[in-house]
Amino acid sequence: MATGRFDVALNQSEYDKNPEAFQQSTHLHIRSEIEEFSVSQHLNIQNADILDLGCGEGRFARYFMSNGANSVTGIDLSTALIHLAQQQNNWHGKIQYILGDVTELPIKPEHFDIVSGIYLIPLAEDTHTLERIFSVACHALKPGGIFVNILLNPSIVESDNFPLLDDYYRKYDFEISHQLPIKEGSKILVKLYNSDGSLFELIDHHYSLDAINAAANHAGFHPSQIHPVEISPKGIHSKGRQYWESYLSNPAICLLISKKHSLKTH
Ligand SMILES: C[S@@+](CC[C@H](N)C(=O)[O-])C[C@H]1O[C@@H](n2cnc3c(N)ncnc32)[C@H](O)[C@@H]1O
Repeated sequence: MATGRFDVALNQSEYDKNPEAFQQSTHLHIRSEIEEFSVSQHLNIQNADILDLGCGEGRFARYFMSNGANSVTGIDLSTALIHLAQQQNNWHGKIQYILGDVTELPIKPEHFDIVSGIYLIPLAEDTHTLERIFSVACHALKPGGIFVNILLNPSIVESDNFPLLDDYYRKYDFEISHQLPIKEGSKILVKLYNSDGSLFELIDHHYSLDAINAAANHAGFHPSQIHPVEISPKGIHSKGRQYWESYLSNPAICLLISKKHSLKTH
């Protein structure tokens, strides 16, 4: 069973210690063939002004711009990842990167059509931080705007199937393990095995849909919707449908879409 092997002390500084290994992980099939494609199925990116919370090395910022966004503002706490982001295409200044904590920075109110938080929710160490993330997103969004997240799939983590066998996801070059009992904020160790031989490890946190919706509701969103992730046509073509079957029967991640109320409720 994939439990109890938390012999490493991992925290936010992993991104600064090992930015290249994190960047390399964006090429894993479970990232490159799932994340952008799944997000694109639920957003109207054309001409949108987008705020990317926890933007990392800017992968989604570049993706949004190459799919017709008007501008992207990316915020991240890691100096090394913001540096890597700034070294890449900034679309003639239409991508702006800011170093800082998303829960503390001043952000333009009601300016953005879309806010993204790709793997940001699982990094919230407690429900207070979870609430801060939703409240920052709500503050930044125009009325009716969309907050899109990718997170660990709460229904997989809470299901009777979990914990899965140690090597369940090893074929997809990652592993997840956790401490029992599973409760709000429980730690989940994620190991990403890159094709260049490097390993990136991080600690995520589990939140139930109820805890997420309490935070979302309090901030001013409609009840959030969970959506299954999808494999891109390129991913299906290159690896074959059979390769993805066991992943799709227990998808480790999901999409969360939260829509801000159209009229001010606060
Ligand atoms: C798992 S990475 C995902 C990066 C990027 N969204 C992607 O999909 O490649 C999570 C990112 O969130 C950033 N992060 C975590 N907490 C943050 C905070 N409070 N404020 C800003 N960035 C934060 C980390 O530095 C890291 O780059």
